[in-house]
Amino acid sequence: MQPCVDMTLLDDILAQYPHEEQSLIQVLQDVQRAYNYLPCEVLEKVASELKVPLAKVFSVSTFYKAFSLNPQGKVIIKVCTGTACHIRGATQIIDEVERRLGIKPGETTEDLGFTLHTVNCVGACAMAPVVIVGDKYVGAAKASDMHKYLTVAKGGDNEN
Ligand code: FES
Repeated sequence: MQPCVDMTLLDDILAQYPHEEQSLIQVLQDVQRAYNYLPCEVLEKVASELKVPLAKVFSVSTFYKAFSLNPQGKVIIKVCTGTACHIRGATQIIDEVERRLGIKPGETTEDLGFTLHTVNCVGACAMAPVVIVGDKYVGAAKASDMHKYLTVAKGGDNEN
């Protein structure tokens, strides 16, 4: 069976590193960046090219939070659910994002546009509630403003 992912991206990544176990994390970081997740067939080839047991590749892939075995959306939305953010309305923000995108925390929209995650305190409690849309921190976030952030993140106009 042919793989569904573009394996040439992996070839370009592997060409940059010695084919040995010490390269594993760097290769996985580049794979995560290139594919936006760690596709199974890519991990199999990484294991064979770096001569690392597949079980070890999966073990590393699941250990670090920066890696995902499932396709992630182009825009990752992280809603802080730490105490300060929870008290100031994080639940309403999550409800609003769920309603607008039709996904629950940990899920990705079918068009791979967005992934929603909840996270623990991100160290910005004074700005609570905090939402991170892509790489942008939004402080004092309001559920009623989420449509604006989602629209801007998607690259559209800032509509109501
Ligand atoms: S609880 Fe959300 S930033 Fe600290």
